[in-house]
Amino acid sequence: MASVLGESEVEDDEMTEMGSYRGKVKVLRDDQESPAEEIMLLWGIQQPTFSKPNSFVSQSSLQLRLDACGRSLSILQSPSSLGAPGVTGSVMWDSGVVLGKFLEHAVDSKMLMLQGKKVVELGAGCGLVGCIAALLGAQVAFTDLPDRLRLLKKNVEANLRDGDLRGSAVVKELIWGDEPDRDLMEPLPDYILGSDVIYSEEAVMDLLDTLTQLCGFQTTIFLAGELRNDTVLEYFLEAAMKVFVIGRVEQTQWHPDYCSSRVVLYVLTKK
Ligand SMILES: C[S@@+](CC[C@H](N)C(=O)[O-])C[C@H]1O[C@@H](n2cnc3c(N)ncnc32)[C@H](O)[C@@H]1O
Repeated sequence: MASVLGESEVEDDEMTEMGSYRGKVKVLRDDQESPAEEIMLLWGIQQPTFSKPNSFVSQSSLQLRLDACGRSLSILQSPSSLGAPGVTGSVMWDSGVVLGKFLEHAVDSKMLMLQGKKVVELGAGCGLVGCIAALLGAQVAFTDLPDRLRLLKKNVEANLRDGDLRGSAVVKELIWGDEPDRDLMEPLPDYILGSDVIYSEEAVMDLLDTLTQLCGFQTTIFLAGELRNDTVLEYFLEAAMKVFVIGRVEQTQWHPDYCSSRVVLYVLTKK
């Protein structure tokens, strides 16, 4: 049976707060060996290959229902689009559910404050994470590739249309590596969110370019990744470490009903 990384495996004095997140995270050591050690640890201890992928979502369904923030969210998916070249955001992925429910849990337990904060979600896909952030009071810009925006807009409109919405939502095109629109950058966001956005080696540098452009010294980035490809994750960590401090949020801090040994959650701040 795979165990997960809990605080018991990590010395207390290695845990610290990062950015605007009040929970304790394990900061990755800033040296050449650190990314490879992180990969060994994740694959060694969590043993992601032994557990079922996407246990919180059904990627063959046209609709995913999830309770969050006192509502029943309904997220439309397009399973038939998934096979098209380059299309990944037409269905939900576990890391999105983990990140969305983590945000809810962190706000409920006063580790995080999203009310009135500017949030940019990268590679929003079907939009679940940003919808939860907006329900928690954030002003969310959902971004993705141009051909992903139709389904994203539908989901945002269907789930965030009530007059009692605490936050706000706007859907925008943002191709990683391109210059972001001025309104995404001015002012720079308080938070950047991304779930399952580290999955292609070709896209890593463009993703980092966008993270670097959007991240100020007051910005906190949350990235939830699927433990699917160790090479891509290691490549990302090696490159990201040059620009960002990277901390791992242990599963003890996640929503207790939405933990998965196939998912890792990082918080990043600008160096
Ligand atoms: C695996 S999906 C994850 C979707 C969603 N975040 C989730 O967790 O369900 C990756 C997302 O990144 C987007 N993406 C991939 N490459 C991109 C790029 N170069 N620029 C902007 N978005 C990109 C995809 O369109 C897709 O929505």
